[in-house]
Amino acid sequence: MGGRDATMVLLDENGIRCDGRKVDETRRIMIRAGGLKNADGSAYIEFGDNKILVGVFGPRDVHPKHMSNTDTGILRVRYHMEPFSVGDRKNPAPSRREIEISKVIKEALEPAVMLENFPRTAVDVFIEVLQADGGTRCAALTAASVALADAGIPMRDMVAAVAAGKVADTIILDVNNEEDQAGQADMPIGYMPSLDKITLLQLDGVLTPEEYKKCVDVGVKGCKVVYELQKKALKDKYFGNGGD
Ligand code: CDP
Repeated sequence: MGGRDATMVLLDENGIRCDGRKVDETRRIMIRAGGLKNADGSAYIEFGDNKILVGVFGPRDVHPKHMSNTDTGILRVRYHMEPFSVGDRKNPAPSRREIEISKVIKEALEPAVMLENFPRTAVDVFIEVLQADGGTRCAALTAASVALADAGIPMRDMVAAVAAGKVADTIILDVNNEEDQAGQADMPIGYMPSLDKITLLQLDGVLTPEEYKKCVDVGVKGCKVVYELQKKALKDKYFGNGGD
């Protein structure tokens, strides 16, 4: 939650948000599976004004070798924002925020990926944020799941993600950048719909226990919407006209 802009109307008298959405509506989401010919799997997502590309490599040999695990494969995730992805140029060096987001995305994907099938190997996930507008970790996690599936890596389920939050004392789905800056709470959620398991849950802000439950419910419902679009992206590539 950043500095609050007192002049911004986050929710009007008709329950319409600052970007014209209803409280339970996501931004426009477009997911494409494939696209990068040098990657084993890839995906591109537009989630509102977020634009993110993901490349997956592996399973492949681990260098340095001592990082490998004889019992299981390892997952490595790098979330990186392009310097031009935000209004103020971002320093290209990895920030603490990028290191944190890389870690939470890795931990959110691990329960889904059957790494035990590939001992001594690594699966590398490279996330490039081309344009950021609030909610990049959820959009990136969603696209990374599609890219892993596109790479043919066995998975227990896909992880779909979207944030729920609170503005003007109301629980909302899919928090945009203005709502993140001026709102009361932001709760990114990653969820495996078939297994009914949450793999990412963070909370920035303060909620009552009832609001917390409602946020989780709203977020999980949103993830189910995102999941359908993930499946569609893969079907379009492998059974339709989409993909490369
Ligand atoms: O992107 P996400 O909501 O997962 O993470 P955040 O740390 O809550 O960042 C919220 C938003 O702040 C990002 O999506 C960007 O739009 C913006 N941001 C920025 O303008 N400059 C940065 N150096 C980092 C983030």
